[in-house]
Amino acid sequence: IVIKKKIKSFDKKIKVGTDKSISIRSILLASQAVGTSKISNLLESEDVLNSLKTIKKLGINYKKKNKIYYIKGFGLNGFDIKKNTTINAGNSGTLARLILGLLVKSKFIVKMKGDKSLSRRDFSRVINPLRLFGVNIKSKNNSLPIEIIGTKFLRPITYNESIGSAQVKSCIILSALNTAGTTIINSKPSRNHTELMLKSFNYPIKVQKKGQIDKIFIDGLKQFKSFEYKVPGDISSASFFIVLTLLSKKSKIIIEGVNVNKSRDGIIQILNRMGAKIKVKNKKFYKGEEVADIYVKSIKKLNSINCPSKFNSSAIDEFLIIFLVAAKANGVSKFKDLGEMNKKESKRLDLAVKFLRLIGIKVERFRNNINIHGNPEITLSKNFEIMNHLKDHRIFFLSCIAALTLGGKWKINEKKSANTSFPDFLKILKFLGATINWKEERI
Ligand code: S3P
Repeated sequence: IVIKKKIKSFDKKIKVGTDKSISIRSILLASQAVGTSKISNLLESEDVLNSLKTIKKLGINYKKKNKIYYIKGFGLNGFDIKKNTTINAGNSGTLARLILGLLVKSKFIVKMKGDKSLSRRDFSRVINPLRLFGVNIKSKNNSLPIEIIGTKFLRPITYNESIGSAQVKSCIILSALNTAGTTIINSKPSRNHTELMLKSFNYPIKVQKKGQIDKIFIDGLKQFKSFEYKVPGDISSASFFIVLTLLSKKSKIIIEGVNVNKSRDGIIQILNRMGAKIKVKNKKFYKGEEVADIYVKSIKKLNSINCPSKFNSSAIDEFLIIFLVAAKANGVSKFKDLGEMNKKESKRLDLAVKFLRLIGIKVERFRNNINIHGNPEITLSKNFEIMNHLKDHRIFFLSCIAALTLGGKWKINEKKSANTSFPDFLKILKFLGATINWKEERI
């Protein structure tokens, strides 16, 4: 796409795509429930559609009627796995890592592959705990393709999850569902949708806060009944519109029905510390999740931040766009211990540094810490081209927001990557008044 103009002021109410993490979890858990679950507002993005295809390959049927997905499960370990099954997780780390937890009893080998981006990501983080359960896994260099074959002799484990990865934690929880006895995870806090969803089914899972650690107890082999779930809006998708509004002139936005679960709201905490005055209103609880409307106004003066690393997990997917705010803030912003960013769909920390330097921002990097020298007066007029080789959706969104708020003439490649998490992204930008040329064009 080509963007040649900043967005004009706007004052609008929008809804963003629904939550990707929750959509995937609702599908995987419905596949293990007894009976037909009913899921509405499921995000119809590629990662989520790949999750549906995956459970179908494993013998679980679903249908869509009047925008509602009906998924028929046969209880725990209710997959019907055929010989020589290969599943394709596409771009989705969440699908790939969580589904492994549900294959721990498979009688046949299941092979899993993924796209170029997923194939360079590390799976040792889930392979190691799964092997402790007794599962057999083959892989070269701990990456995809992986072959997994389950066992009848699963044993519960006690595991220290020290990365702060919800994907690892959830993989272990799902494996624990199929394992007799109590599995215990000492987990560095991370998004807790899997735990909340299981609790909402009255599944015997207990979480104790012990200082900086969540101690999670999961009793295995307890069947749970089919359920209804209405997926809320995704704060990770909302984040791009929050920043678009903040950095545009005289604009306002209300983003309705967004999940503001404390384990996900780091972006609001961080931006408000930078002076953003984002308001969260009409909070309601839904099956343990907090859902609310987010009110944002543009702001003239943004302060730099010395960002406490306690926000690293709850803003992990939002740092790219937070860095853009830091680029326009007054002073030097400091972020630390962000090595996990380089383990995402692309090496996001490396790319962020490159991106910020490309737009003329001074950045110092020491290992996984960066200092961003903000420039409140920044306006761009040059030509920019963003290549996005690994088709990382969030690099695409970041580039669009930078183009619409800072100026310059931008050619941004890999528009299709938006389909991973937020297919309506460009449509909403247009609704807000952005001028975007869809055709390939020279700049
Ligand atoms: C996710 C967890 C996070 C996040 C990813 C989705 C999830 O990854 O970055 O986009 O749905 O559990 P990690 O758990 O590996 O940090």
